[in-house]
Amino acid sequence: MKLLFSLFLTIALSVGLTAKSDDRVGDVLAKMSLEQKARLVVGYPPVYANVPPGTAGITCGIDSLGIPAICLADGPMGLRLRPVNHSFTAYPIGPCLSSTWNAELVEQVGQSIGREAAEAGIGVVLAPGINMMRNPLCGRNFEYYSEDPVLCGELASAYVKGMQSEGVGACVKHFAANNQETMRIIGDSRVGERALREIYLRPFEICVEKAAPWTIMSSYNRLNGPWTQENRELLTDILRGEWGYDGVVMTDWTSRRHTAAQIYAGNDLLEPGEDIQVQDIMDAVQNGTLAEEDLDTAVRRVLGLVFKISDTEHGTSVVEPAGVSLEAAREGLVLLKNEDNVLPLSASQSVALLGVGSYDTRGTGHGAANVECGYVVSIADGLESHGFDIDKESRGLYGLYVDFASADQNLNHWKYAHVGEPLYDELPLSDSFMSNLASRCDIAMFTLSRMSGEQKDRVLEDDFYLSNTERNIISGLSEAFHAKGKKLIVVLNVCGPVETASWKGLVDGIICVWLPGQYAGRAIADIVSGTVNPSGRLPMSWPVDYFDIAGAEDFPYDYDGPRSNDASLKPDFSRPQIRNVDYTDYSEGIYVGYRYFVSSGKCIGFPFGYGLSYTSFSYSAASATLRGDKVRLKVRVTNTGDRSGKESVGVYVHAPMGGLDKPARELKSFAKTRLLSPGESQLLSFEISLRDLASFNEAASEWETASGKYEFFFGADVTRPKLSVVVRL
Ligand code: BGC
Repeated sequence: MKLLFSLFLTIALSVGLTAKSDDRVGDVLAKMSLEQKARLVVGYPPVYANVPPGTAGITCGIDSLGIPAICLADGPMGLRLRPVNHSFTAYPIGPCLSSTWNAELVEQVGQSIGREAAEAGIGVVLAPGINMMRNPLCGRNFEYYSEDPVLCGELASAYVKGMQSEGVGACVKHFAANNQETMRIIGDSRVGERALREIYLRPFEICVEKAAPWTIMSSYNRLNGPWTQENRELLTDILRGEWGYDGVVMTDWTSRRHTAAQIYAGNDLLEPGEDIQVQDIMDAVQNGTLAEEDLDTAVRRVLGLVFKISDTEHGTSVVEPAGVSLEAAREGLVLLKNEDNVLPLSASQSVALLGVGSYDTRGTGHGAANVECGYVVSIADGLESHGFDIDKESRGLYGLYVDFASADQNLNHWKYAHVGEPLYDELPLSDSFMSNLASRCDIAMFTLSRMSGEQKDRVLEDDFYLSNTERNIISGLSEAFHAKGKKLIVVLNVCGPVETASWKGLVDGIICVWLPGQYAGRAIADIVSGTVNPSGRLPMSWPVDYFDIAGAEDFPYDYDGPRSNDASLKPDFSRPQIRNVDYTDYSEGIYVGYRYFVSSGKCIGFPFGYGLSYTSFSYSAASATLRGDKVRLKVRVTNTGDRSGKESVGVYVHAPMGGLDKPARELKSFAKTRLLSPGESQLLSFEISLRDLASFNEAASEWETASGKYEFFFGADVTRPKLSVVVRL
């Protein structure tokens, strides 16, 4: 069979299949042989094709039928293509994007990546990743958005809309309950139906409803027994039957499993594809184990996608990737502590800038979401170009260390996931060095770094908890600088939460900058200098201690057994199944993240929605009215401080029980103000449907909106709402 690998650099203005394209799909389908149909639903290995280097997969082009091949590439934070003539932009990681609480900005990120993809000849970007942050140690949390399904689903919908407005398909992944990396190919996520519906499926449902993604990726893991990729109830009954999804479902990059069962379940495209799967499909149709109509359904959807992408024309929008990446980083930075307004700093201050991450700043994580962006602006470079005077001795020391460490892989420890760059062990500092620094510099800034990635979960020791070296540096700097009446700021250049309770009292300021993409240092300098007022809000809870979270024991936090990413791995049922490895019980049910903390009253390090500003805001004129099947809410936000700033507002509900257990508060909507000048105010409006207020009743297997008193709270920090209003249903 002749394969066509022409690339399409055109942009779609239209979404959805028109009647004309329906006819075209029908015409082509009618001409296809069984083998051609089977080939179309099995990916074609990119190594055999003349496609952009780094392309993760392609669909099979069939020249004689005018079916072009479409290239699929990762990933969520920018294109994971090998740079040939130019590199691709690295955007901030998922938690940084979601910390913006700004759907418009996240839409621009999606659009900007879509534009870069279209220009590179990529038809589908394998993003966004929208699995829930069930546990802070999941290695891929840095690709995901939140522990809350509404924040995640709404922001991911914005990303998808932005990307698809450029004529490039998004691929929402990994469907579903794929919340740990340890043994991700065989692990069974054992989730109750209510938690599945309300927490783990909900962001996908929101995305399908609000953004109609052109593709969805079925995950590697098993779900309550069978693989998700063979689960017809999930991929067909719920996804298509209940939610009305009509796009393409592709498998995550799996080796051959039960091919016919995968197609029957509702996958339309098996990626990355093996020849033997083509044969499997033909055999299954011929021996009657797969109905040809089921194969035709998948073929139709793939043809629809291929034509939609190949027929598109360039859009006219102007997106500037560097500007979008920088802006998203600025808005995603979260100010966690600012004792006595230590921040912003004035540029005349001399800074003792310490920590490897200050000089070798991390922009993104490992694995499918890694972006070879060429360079990352370090914190040191960012601050220097803002005019800060960085201590030269420290700069020289770390410069030498990074050069030396990059040549010696033995200096890396846990932080090496699989693909991507290493992160170096922290450099110990002597007391005399720190005391000299305190004499000659005005302020100390220490950067603490954490990376994570695909195929490996984070661990507790020297990862969630700080290493001894890091603790010694923080306490040493705190002592030395405070003895001279000077201050210490810690910058968290991290993939996710770290323990802070044991050391946050020693420092004056903490900024969580995440892995903020390639313009890291510029964004951080803008916040540190006060050029930009921080407005990021945490999209997940930061526990005081790891074991405070619900379900802490139901995660492989202490796993040090073999790690295999062999996509052909099969579960071994001949031996007893190992908890948290072969299977994981989602014992906390719906009480994930803040839902548990606010309901149990347990102490929290930094709550969901937490984040400080250089200004202050007041809330007034809160109202709520029920009209038809919608609750409409309003609140006025006023900047009461003396700097311009933006405020994020969450609307949390405390719902009546109605026979089911309910969390004390659940996010139902959110918005962000424009930049408000001192004294300026903005009226924010929200609309929440009765269905959004429903809980899933397992016994009845349906959504239920209880009648009674609904209290709606306004404010980003889930533990400190500013105002509330009541509606009775
Ligand atoms: C990852 C996906 C990714 C795919 C293609 C898989 O291992 O789980 O997220 O899109 O590889 O690179």
